[in-house]
Amino acid sequence: MSDVAAFECINEAKVDMDHIYNQSDPRNYYRELNKLDYAIPDTAKPIFQNLIGHLQDRADEPVHVLDLGCSYGVNAAILKYDLSMDDLYEHWAQKQIADATPEEVLAYDQSFLANMDNSDDIVMIGLDQAENAISYATETGLLDDGIVANLETEMLSDDEKDTLGQVDLVISTGCVGYLTEKSFERFMPAVSKGRQPWIANFVLRLFPFDHIEQSLNTCGYATEKLEGETFFQRHFASGDEREDVLGKLCEHGVDPTGKESEGRFVAEFYLSRPAAEVAKIPLEQLLST
Ligand SMILES: C[S@@+](CC[C@H](N)C(=O)[O-])C[C@H]1O[C@@H](n2cnc3c(N)ncnc32)[C@H](O)[C@@H]1O
Repeated sequence: MSDVAAFECINEAKVDMDHIYNQSDPRNYYRELNKLDYAIPDTAKPIFQNLIGHLQDRADEPVHVLDLGCSYGVNAAILKYDLSMDDLYEHWAQKQIADATPEEVLAYDQSFLANMDNSDDIVMIGLDQAENAISYATETGLLDDGIVANLETEMLSDDEKDTLGQVDLVISTGCVGYLTEKSFERFMPAVSKGRQPWIANFVLRLFPFDHIEQSLNTCGYATEKLEGETFFQRHFASGDEREDVLGKLCEHGVDPTGKESEGRFVAEFYLSRPAAEVAKIPLEQLLST
C-alpha cells in the first residue's frame, strides 16, 4: 500500500485540526495547540540549529531553509527570531490581541516582529496548502517567501521551482502524515537541482517513514534515523484519541510502552542527505559537533 492510502487510515486515529490551519490569523492555532502542550518546534529547535550551523560553515551566503507544512511561520519564529513555543503561546493570548480584528492582529504582529532581533543568516521559505497561514506569515515577515501548494494533488509552478532551487535545508515538524512520498517526489527535482539540500523531518512514530525514504533513495539520498532518541510532540486530545493511536501503533508493531502509553504523541528524527555526505560523516557524529 502506498503512504497515501496508509496515512489516510492512520490519520483517522488523530483528532481533526483542519479547522485551525487556515484562519485569517494564528490566534486559534496557538490557543488550541497550547491546550495540548504542542511542543515539537521547540523540541526540534536544537537539532535544526545544529544543522543550520553546519550549513552556515560551508557557505558564505545565508542558509535557505524550506519549512514543509509551515503553517503561520511557526518554525520561522522559533529559528529566525529565537522565540520559544511558550513565547508564542503567551504572545497570542494577550488581551489586546485576543479582542482584535484580524487586520489589527496583523498590524500588531508586523510591528512586534519589526522591533525584534532576527537572524540575517537564515532565509525562511514556507510551503503550506493553507493560503491564509502563508499570507499572514509572509506579510508579517516571518517568512521571506511562501508557497501555497498541496503537492499531494498538484504540481509546482515554474516560479515555485525556481524559488526551491536555492534551498540548503528542508525541515518539517508535525507535517509528515499529511504529506506522503508523493509530495517529496514532487519537490525533490526542484530542490536537488540546486544545492542538494539536507532534509530534516520530525515524524510521529505513528507514521512509517520507509516510502518517503525509498523515494529519496532514488534521488541519490540516504536517510538516517537518530537512534535511541524520541521527541515530545503533544498530549493526546482525548481518551478516544489515545485508544485509537495505541491501536494503530499495535497494528504496526510499534511498542508504545513508556511513550505513547503515557498519553503523548512522540516523534523521531530522520535526516536525509546525499549518500556520499552520509558516508563521510554519520548523523550522530554530525550532531555531536
Ligand atoms: C500540525 S500543523 C504543523 C504546523 C507547523 N509545522 C508546526 O509544527 O507548528 C500541519 C500543517 O500541515 C499543513 N498541511 C496539511 N496537509 C497539507 C498538504 N497536503 N500540503 C501542504 N500542507 C499541508 C496544514 O495546513 C498545517 O499548517
